[in-house]
Amino acid sequence: MNIIDVIKSRRTIKKFKGDAVDENLILRWLEAAAMAPNHRMTEPWEIYYIGQETRKKLNHKTNFGNAPTVMAVLSRHGATKVETEENAAATACFIQNFNLAAWSEGVGTFWSSIGISGNNRKLLQVPENYDLLGILAVGYPEEVPEAKPRTPIKEKINYLP
Ligand SMILES: Cc1cc2nc3c(=O)[nH]c(=O)nc-3n(C[C@H](O)[C@H](O)[C@H](O)COP(=O)(O)O)c2cc1C
Repeated sequence: MNIIDVIKSRRTIKKFKGDAVDENLILRWLEAAAMAPNHRMTEPWEIYYIGQETRKKLNHKTNFGNAPTVMAVLSRHGATKVETEENAAATACFIQNFNLAAWSEGVGTFWSSIGISGNNRKLLQVPENYDLLGILAVGYPEEVPEAKPRTPIKEKINYLP
């Protein structure tokens, strides 16, 4: 698949097959993700693999669609509000890079913000100086939903004088 096909065919996957995803594949996608742009080379992301014990405590209503792998992605704060926002933007690029790399090799992801609440931050041991950008469920899709239509892009383009 070329990159446009990967981007356009990616879906948020909410039902996974139980089969494990090879750790080395995940590592390769994380390495690709880390090539995300990041201002001042802050590399603000951290990945926490979520083990079964913690996962049960998160008490997600679908148990992350039975994904074999669940991880949290954190983004470090910067010295200023602007730097913190830049770091979050860089970490969002990191996550999307990961999602697309996985999808290009047949593995789906579910990016959810369920962990962001105070209680879940505690469960996930997120340090004070980090944002929790999301929880990623990763696995082979059991079901691939239809694309959700987007607003025609021309309606989103604005021209300044
Ligand atoms: C930051 C972020 C947080 C998200 N959190 C959730 C979530 O908590 N629950 C959920 O069902 N989907 C969540 N999603 C996935 C979106 O619902 C999904 O991307 C959107 O419906 C479009 O579907 P698609 O990704 O298949 O194109 C999140 C996506 C992003 C980028």
